[in-house]
Amino acid sequence: MSDTGERTEGAQMIEIGPLAELAPDSARRVDVDGHRLAVIRIGDDVYVIGDECSHADYSLAEGEIDSDDKTIECWKHGSAFSVETGEPTSMPAIKPVPVYTVRVEDGVIHVEVSS
Ligand code: FES
Repeated sequence: MSDTGERTEGAQMIEIGPLAELAPDSARRVDVDGHRLAVIRIGDDVYVIGDECSHADYSLAEGEIDSDDKTIECWKHGSAFSVETGEPTSMPAIKPVPVYTVRVEDGVIHVEVSS
């Protein structure tokens, strides 16, 4: 865990791990400070959204990534979520999942979470 010092009120930057350990176009579930996160890499860009599908409690990190649309598809019923906005782009989910601020510094992924 590390703290880069730059943060919004009540939030902190948490180290997730090396970018090199997350293959392009893959995702991994990470639990930090009570937040359940889906860390998603598309090309060299990293996105972090809430891991729990807004339709039911299934892990979005286990879903399939569409690198062109920048979405990840829930494996259970097929709703796709934008990795940039958290909004579902297809049914049955109708509510967004949270989106987290993410930064890669010196090859290490950091995410901002509220404490
Ligand atoms: S649990 Fe994700 S779409 Fe139903």
